[in-house]
Amino acid sequence: MRRDHLIALRPWEAPEVTSWGRLAMNAVDRRSGALSLDGSWHFQLLPSPMGCSGEWTRTEVPGTWTTQSGDDLPQYTNAQMPWGEFPPASPAANPTGIYERSVDIPAEWAGRRIVLQVGAAESVLLVHVNGKPVGISKDSHLAAEFDLSDVVRPGDPATVRFTVVKWSDASHIEDQDQWWHAGITRSVLLYATDPLYLADVTVRARRDGRLRVDCQVRDAAGPLPPGWYVTGAVDGQLLAQDTEFDRFNAEDMRVSDFLGEARLRGTVENVWPWSAETPELYDLTVRLHRADGSVADTSHHRVGFRDVEIHGRDLLVNGERVYIRGVNRHDFHPLTGRTVTTEDMRADLVVMKRFGFNAIRTAHYPNDPTLYDLADELGFYVVDEANIESHDHAHEIADDPRYLPAFVDRVSRMVLRDKNHPSVIIWSLGNESDYGANHDAAAGWVRRHDPTRPIQYEGAAKLDWADLTLASDIACPMYAPIEDCVAHARSGKQTKPIIQCEYSHAMGNSNGTLADTWAAIESTPGLQGGFIWEFWDHGILQRVNDGRPVGRGGAGLYEHGVAAPGHRWAYGGDFGETIHDGAFIADGVVFPDRTPKPVMYEHREIAAPVRLTHHQDVLLVHNRQHFRGLEWLAAEWRLVLADGTTLTAPAELPDVLPGESAAVPLPFPVPEGESWLTLRVTTADDEAWAPLGTEVCLPQVRLGTAVADAAPEPAAGPAVTLDADALLVHPLLTAAPVLSLWRAPTDNDELGGMAARWHDWGLDELVRKVVDVREEGSRVVVVAEYATGAGPVRHEQVFTPVAGGLRVEESAELPEGLDDVARVGTVFETVAGLDVLDWYGQGPWESYPDRSTGAPVGHHSLPVDELFTPYLRPQESGGRHGVRRFTLSAPDATGLTVELGAPGQVSVNRYRAEDLAAAAHHDELVPRPGCVVHLDAAHRGLGTASCGPDTSAEYLVAPGTHRWAWTLRVL
Ligand code: GAL
Ligand code: MG
Repeated sequence: MRRDHLIALRPWEAPEVTSWGRLAMNAVDRRSGALSLDGSWHFQLLPSPMGCSGEWTRTEVPGTWTTQSGDDLPQYTNAQMPWGEFPPASPAANPTGIYERSVDIPAEWAGRRIVLQVGAAESVLLVHVNGKPVGISKDSHLAAEFDLSDVVRPGDPATVRFTVVKWSDASHIEDQDQWWHAGITRSVLLYATDPLYLADVTVRARRDGRLRVDCQVRDAAGPLPPGWYVTGAVDGQLLAQDTEFDRFNAEDMRVSDFLGEARLRGTVENVWPWSAETPELYDLTVRLHRADGSVADTSHHRVGFRDVEIHGRDLLVNGERVYIRGVNRHDFHPLTGRTVTTEDMRADLVVMKRFGFNAIRTAHYPNDPTLYDLADELGFYVVDEANIESHDHAHEIADDPRYLPAFVDRVSRMVLRDKNHPSVIIWSLGNESDYGANHDAAAGWVRRHDPTRPIQYEGAAKLDWADLTLASDIACPMYAPIEDCVAHARSGKQTKPIIQCEYSHAMGNSNGTLADTWAAIESTPGLQGGFIWEFWDHGILQRVNDGRPVGRGGAGLYEHGVAAPGHRWAYGGDFGETIHDGAFIADGVVFPDRTPKPVMYEHREIAAPVRLTHHQDVLLVHNRQHFRGLEWLAAEWRLVLADGTTLTAPAELPDVLPGESAAVPLPFPVPEGESWLTLRVTTADDEAWAPLGTEVCLPQVRLGTAVADAAPEPAAGPAVTLDADALLVHPLLTAAPVLSLWRAPTDNDELGGMAARWHDWGLDELVRKVVDVREEGSRVVVVAEYATGAGPVRHEQVFTPVAGGLRVEESAELPEGLDDVARVGTVFETVAGLDVLDWYGQGPWESYPDRSTGAPVGHHSLPVDELFTPYLRPQESGGRHGVRRFTLSAPDATGLTVELGAPGQVSVNRYRAEDLAAAAHHDELVPRPGCVVHLDAAHRGLGTASCGPDTSAEYLVAPGTHRWAWTLRVL
């Protein structure tokens, strides 16, 4: 079979060739009524585009062959290209997939215009039909359409053949931080239109109900015939023709494919405006009529009436300065790579919505088209980003005229595709591609074509947040320290809204200081939010025995964020790649199976629609939304008392306008001692993203304060027994309590350099040297010293028998040089069988000192095995902040209880810190039969130093003397 013509052009080495034979992009949705070509195709993988054809196998379309064939596996790189060729060259070894199938062209399509749509192909697509070259296209994340009317015959079968070349000049501008895949990643379809057809429809719908619909018409058969017209209706109400703007039917036109234009106008009275909180959509139907009134073509649109504008340094939606509580989203699936279904996307958005997100940046390319339909429907503000990232060669490419057509092509095609989505409020020119004339060219096109939306581009904004001449209407830095944002906003020099395009890097156990960041945003005019990096941990489900991706058949081989035995979540390097960037691909707020990480609860609370404050006996309920009242929510009061009880009472949410507050009576008299009042807020009705009764947030205030810890009186109890090493002997402990200054480094600790310092100090291998043991009455004092690279640490334990148990008072003196340790506290291990933890403190979710807003104080209970968070690369995990008391028990109610002198950070799991640090993947961990228990007087914050700011100074563990106390009792 010949592939000669197109292959001979070597289009994969020609950046100026963006496409050939590809139809103009438009916003007329042809998916319904089309013939799907998805399913099983003949397939073969060649070593290069020039390679000779071999044996056919079969493959599923859409899909990435990197997860399907086994002969070319996924590879992960962040900024670096996976090969050394300079732009625009690509390597000679260049996997090339040939897809072929036969299609029966419906006989009833006779006389119609027949179009092939390839949803997305990575990275260069060459199309042949019935042996004839039909077209070429690039841009791995946009559809390409080709007119087949002249190459197929209705009623006959046609052979469709795709040649997909993996590496190309385009790879240099698709160097996003993600897996490298290849294939036909989105659906393929065939549709037919009348020769006279709607070429494009552009909808502008304002929040006051005004609507303008611009229609473009073509006639494939020749000049437009006289007498045709366009009509439109919104929810059945006919729009008016704006004859001033109608330009068509020029009699003297003799060119074929003439473009006609018509404009419709109307006003929807008492319109319900669209916003992320109120995603009200109206049905618009546009019809193209022949002179006799019959309908030649129809286009359906879901229209949202809304305004977007930048006013000074505020981004306004419907006149409101909305907070952008965003997250960056890739098209990702652990089985299928980049191919996602409608159900997958809906599930993504439902999770985002339930955890308080209202915005998505389609990092770093136009996402699957269905995503935008769902964003319109469920309510999200979308920053739509063009598929341009030249990270490794950013500087050269931004001004390289050979790439100029590609920049303009990619940006303009995205805008043409997505312009009618109310959810899209900002266009992004791409990511991490420096800033050059190519960007300005693309921005210029957008400003002319769509003056209704702002543009952002981080590469431009970073030159100067305030310069109004740059191609970014928004100051959209990534990972800027929040203090810098605040300082800019207060400098008097700010000219644009600050909305970080990426912030709070979610790699591993991370997202420290999110609440502080938001406190700064909400208290600083000019700051409006940002997009967390990122939604997904991109682990690919892999069989451990043969190292292959499991692929499509793997549903059911994972649960609660964990891969089934014999499987793991692969990250960079796991497919045998030598050039890769390791676990940096696992940096999302959800696990690869979409299980939320604990940070999601933190975000949910920060973004909560309802907030509670209690000040001088006044209890206030705040409506934190921009557009909605509280009537869609129900609530219940909970009063948590230190004695272990929780009282509940029904709550009546007051009638509060968005942004306002109302005082409500205290539902309970304020009791003596420590107490906490929680408002459990749920959905009162079914929402599109949450059935009635779904928990929305858990705002909490402290009512009564704690009574100071009264140390239990020494009492006759079991005498303190020490072994020969002066370690405590206790029937329920298999490892005695000793000092701990270290944690299994988190990704932030590793990449931020803390782990290396801890290692240099020797904190990961502390050696205990007993320097003194003495008895003082019933008390036993043990003093030990630990040598570290920054001087000795003196640790004292005082054991005192008390009623029913043992009181342990400890102190540790850290030399000045140990100015940033992971923790100061005690670690011990228990006998097997104590499998349930009950605790009074923050929870039930994992929480850390700088990530504890989403975990209310309460009486919590979980099996020990569920306390651990299975971060892809094992690391410090499962901590609970602000713990006052806990019990570890067996089913027969035996066990131990620990009372802390002051609320501390506690973790209980099956692994020692060194077990976690030694493992690269979760499946390598071997649980210990008992529990490893840490109780910390101080624990370092998590920060986000794997990419961005570390935690702030207040969450560091200071040198000097730390004191803590706890009481251990047997149940
Ligand atoms: C940004 C980049 C993202 C990702 C992130 C780190 O610089 O835009 O694509 O690499 O850092 O995970
Ligand atoms: Mg990058």
